[in-house]
Amino acid sequence: MERIEFAGVGKRYVIGDQKTAREAIMAGARRLSGRRSSQAREFWSLRDVSFTVSDGDALGIIGRNGAGKSTILKLITRITSPTTGTSRTRGRVAALLEVGTGFHPELTGRENIYLNGAILGMSRRDITRVFDDIVEFSGVERFLDTPVKRYSSGMGLRLGFAVAAHLEPDILVVDEILAVGDAEFQRKCLGRMEEAEKEGRTLVFVSHDLDSLSQLCSRALWLEAGRIRQAGDSRDLVRDYLTSSLAASQGGTALVDAGPVSVRRVQVVPRGRPEGSALLREDTLLIEVDFDLAEELSYFDLSVYLTNHRGVRVLDEAVSDHAAGPLGPGSYRARMEVPPILNVGQFSVGLWCGSATSTLLDEAAVTNFTLHGSKRNRPSRTVVLDLPIEVSVR
Ligand SMILES: Nc1ncnc2c1ncn2[C@@H]1O[C@H](COP(=O)(O)OP(=O)(O)OP(=O)(O)O)[C@@H](O)[C@H]1O
Ligand SMILES: [Mg+2]
Repeated sequence: MERIEFAGVGKRYVIGDQKTAREAIMAGARRLSGRRSSQAREFWSLRDVSFTVSDGDALGIIGRNGAGKSTILKLITRITSPTTGTSRTRGRVAALLEVGTGFHPELTGRENIYLNGAILGMSRRDITRVFDDIVEFSGVERFLDTPVKRYSSGMGLRLGFAVAAHLEPDILVVDEILAVGDAEFQRKCLGRMEEAEKEGRTLVFVSHDLDSLSQLCSRALWLEAGRIRQAGDSRDLVRDYLTSSLAASQGGTALVDAGPVSVRRVQVVPRGRPEGSALLREDTLLIEVDFDLAEELSYFDLSVYLTNHRGVRVLDEAVSDHAAGPLGPGSYRARMEVPPILNVGQFSVGLWCGSATSTLLDEAAVTNFTLHGSKRNRPSRTVVLDLPIEVSVR
């Protein structure tokens, strides 16, 4: 049975209708960057999108910021409806889209759990049966009788995920949960999604964490500017997505425009050898990121991460690991030195940029590079540290 069917789905938005501040910033930036004509009062965030998801399948969706991923999820959950084509969903859908979606702010955590269960068509008894699991998973026990509007965004997220994942939906839809929350919580969420999959639930998962995505989902869609660029086996897709980096696909203009931040150029150069020479395993790599800031940010943070060809995040370093603070408008260059610890192979440079509380941009493959040289007979290792192993008599 097909749980989800999209046939020729298009979604047109009128600019200025953005629901969240972030969407408004992103849409504004796209307009300023001239990618759409300045007269355009409307644009298509999805065009001619067709796919199906069968009962019990797990589908991953990947694509750059603004590609239309969240729009697909909003259509699946019927929060919004298509402008053209048809989107059909069969069964009970539980979704975790943005923090707090699906919660009533005036009601307490406890009341919201029951309300969400009722919306999913569960009986009071069924909800009571999973109630304790939800509370334990979310860790918000002490605040159960507090109105949700007083929750921090972290608490709202925890409870939101716990509810979505435990209320026995036919279809579980999760948007980008791994971008928020601590490592422990992220692991719990992934574990819970795996269980949901084993229980035979249908899963749709949007994430920039390509490794988790390809582990969880056998099939994936790659969206580009509102259209499906590629669909198929998720491992193949992740590999192709990572190799078609932004730097390769765009010339001249900014690589990424994300509200106040625009990334002009990202380069990987070998230290102490001419620019443009092939990168060798023994090289110390300099990763340089040129970006402009259009306005003062009271707290600016940037992280540079490296992903191998399977989507595993090998490195992820942030300005805030050392110090971060306000940054005024201007043109900047960020530099990171990577010692020669990586094995040969293909890598993608990812960039994340944001403030203490929000993400402005997150692109897993701004540019790619290949490290050449001998694998020293152990191609399966990702890092090479040459750690000595001492063998002695006990
Ligand atoms: N309610 C809305 N009104 C107007 N434009 C919108 C609205 N929601 C989304 N958009 C625009 O539609 C496009 C696709 O947005 P969508 O949120 O689906 O992208 P996404 O792939 O989820 O991106 P991200 O990785 O940044 O979350 C964007 O250009 C966005 O600004
Ligand atoms: Mg999104």
